[in-house]
Amino acid sequence: MTFNPLRERGIPLDKQLRNWRELNVTPIDPDHADPYTRCRIIAMNGIEVEAVMFSHQMARHCPDTEIKQQLARVRYIEAQQQKAVNWLLPGLASVLETTLAYEQVAVDLTAWVARMEPDPYLQQAYQFGVLEDFDHLYRYANLYEMIEHRKAEKVVDQLTEVMPGRPTIMHHRDPVDNVREPYDRATVDPLSKLHALTIMSAEQQTMNFYMNVGPEYMEPIARRLYQEIGLIEEEHVTHYESLVDPGETWWEMLLNHEYNECYLYHSFMETESDPKVKAIWELHLNMELEHLRLAAEMFNKHDTRDVAEVVSPKLPKPVTFEPNKEYVRDLIATQIDHTTIGTGYVQEAHERFQKFQEQIHGGEQPPSEAVIEENKAKSGEEYRLETEGPHPVERLRLS
Ligand SMILES: [Fe+2]
Ligand SMILES: [Fe+2]
Ligand SMILES: [Fe+2]
Ligand SMILES: [Fe+2]
Repeated sequence: MTFNPLRERGIPLDKQLRNWRELNVTPIDPDHADPYTRCRIIAMNGIEVEAVMFSHQMARHCPDTEIKQQLARVRYIEAQQQKAVNWLLPGLASVLETTLAYEQVAVDLTAWVARMEPDPYLQQAYQFGVLEDFDHLYRYANLYEMIEHRKAEKVVDQLTEVMPGRPTIMHHRDPVDNVREPYDRATVDPLSKLHALTIMSAEQQTMNFYMNVGPEYMEPIARRLYQEIGLIEEEHVTHYESLVDPGETWWEMLLNHEYNECYLYHSFMETESDPKVKAIWELHLNMELEHLRLAAEMFNKHDTRDVAEVVSPKLPKPVTFEPNKEYVRDLIATQIDHTTIGTGYVQEAHERFQKFQEQIHGGEQPPSEAVIEENKAKSGEEYRLETEGPHPVERLRLS
């Protein structure tokens, strides 16, 4: 059975508003939930935040009151969806536990996208980025053990390994080198557009999350680590957003956003293990089908092309959260010492990279290094979760 989101009928827009009782969702159980259910919630929250912010940006560029009213109507529903989704997270989990889950999303979602991406240049961008978020997970896991006296496997289970990736100290690049080359909207595989939008949105939400929660900590090392990694997420947003063709029209961008929401809700509905959460994915899919229909209507009115030239009538295979351990290990073994230069990649440090490194570190050890040493001193050894054997790079093995 093929699912054509352009043909399926959703819930009429005037039936989509929820009252307080309907918005008051029951959060997942932090101790018994499937870690990948939590990952789907975090990923989908990032998508809804992007839906809201994109619609605001579009409205700010739109002189037509009627179109603005239409955008406002749909955006209010997106805002309710964001609340319903993000409020599935339990207040019982600590901010640091949620942070570990954010990095688990970044690892397993980006790795999956990299595996499925048909375009080699775009694939390289995901492969490059995933090794950095993988290292963030390791740094935060050590902070978690140090200040909460718990082990990250409580959050990530055995699904994602925790060990050094490309060391965080090396992620600080001159901003010029974070800009990639965009795909060409006329020739690119439609799947690539969805991938870029998804990862850009997830990284943007991670950036926003760290910039907001970082200063809530008392412990100086926690405050500092969030600052450091928060700045790298800024680099990641620059990296991923530059993959998107800036020549897309506003109507086209809106269409891509709504289509991607349909794709992801459909994917998560198909793969969800928690029946209560699955019911929300299904409800939201039915709302998004109507958003997509309305976006297509606007596109038809204002763009000269056919909707089918921009988005595919057939949904791609569902985005799946699953372990990517061997894939990530392989990348660590082959791409750990990569950095960027201009819109490309190199294996050695170059002048601009080195100059930036000198400036940002100021001759001191960054928080991402200090956290490992401090945890070693406090807990006896650093925290790792190497389920598939010793680290693939010899110099990064525990002695
Ligand atoms: Fe939405
Ligand atoms: Fe990260
Ligand atoms: Fe990131
Ligand atoms: Fe939507």
